[in-house]
Amino acid sequence: MTTQPVLSATDIHKTYVTGDRSVPVLQGAELVLQPGERVALLGPSGSGKSSLLHILAGLDSADQGEVLIAGESMSKASSEGRAILRRTYMGFVYQMHHLLPEFTALENLSIPQRLHGVGKAAADVISADWLMKVGLGHRTEHLPGALSGGERQRVAVARALVNQPRLVLADEPTGNLDQATAQEVMAVLVDLSRQAEVAFMVVTHDRTHLHHFDRVIVLDHGKILAEPTMS
Ligand SMILES: Nc1ncnc2c1ncn2[C@@H]1O[C@H](COP(=O)(O)OP(=O)(O)O)[C@@H](O)[C@H]1O
Ligand SMILES: [Mg+2]
Repeated sequence: MTTQPVLSATDIHKTYVTGDRSVPVLQGAELVLQPGERVALLGPSGSGKSSLLHILAGLDSADQGEVLIAGESMSKASSEGRAILRRTYMGFVYQMHHLLPEFTALENLSIPQRLHGVGKAAADVISADWLMKVGLGHRTEHLPGALSGGERQRVAVARALVNQPRLVLADEPTGNLDQATAQEVMAVLVDLSRQAEVAFMVVTHDRTHLHHFDRVIVLDHGKILAEPTMS
């Protein structure tokens, strides 16, 4: 039996042109993620990891190549179609938490559900449950500014998962945290994504996180390579 990949990116090319300078960043990047698969993406700073994630999310367009999310074309979709694919199938965690500063932790989780058509009472119950799962059951009414960096990233992890996506993309989600907090946040992200059977791809520089993943890939000169086997 063949399963439908949750993500398939074929022959992705992207060159940034600013003034008379052109920087080729992605040069035939290819990637397939199966349902529930856990992948770490490595690559030096400036190698195009964030650019690739933006293209996979349909927030930027590739010059060439196609992205399919659960079999549906992100590349060929309208901007509304891309937003629907993101909302339906995808969750995101960034290096910066990007929580809405004027809303509580609970509201930050309820708002994306409301946008997805869930009623307020049900959304609030689900939000409280997710805050418990990320260890913040006692922080539901706090504004992001009253939370620590690690707590904010826990809320961001819960927000990425709250609409039951098929795929989570995380771009250096622990990059702003100290080592101990980074380990905790990565463990929460990995454990909850596993329980929810969500596929995820995490950009990280920290090799101590790699044991969490089924597969490690590297962005190298615009292409995706399998990580050479570590001895
Ligand atoms: N919007 C943009 N306009 C011009 N150049 C960009 C833009 N976004 C990224 N770049 C360039 O593309 C390269 C890859 O950037 P990025 O994808 O952020 O790499 P990484 O996330 O691996 O550090 C860098 O040289 C960066 O300066
Ligand atoms: Mg980046």
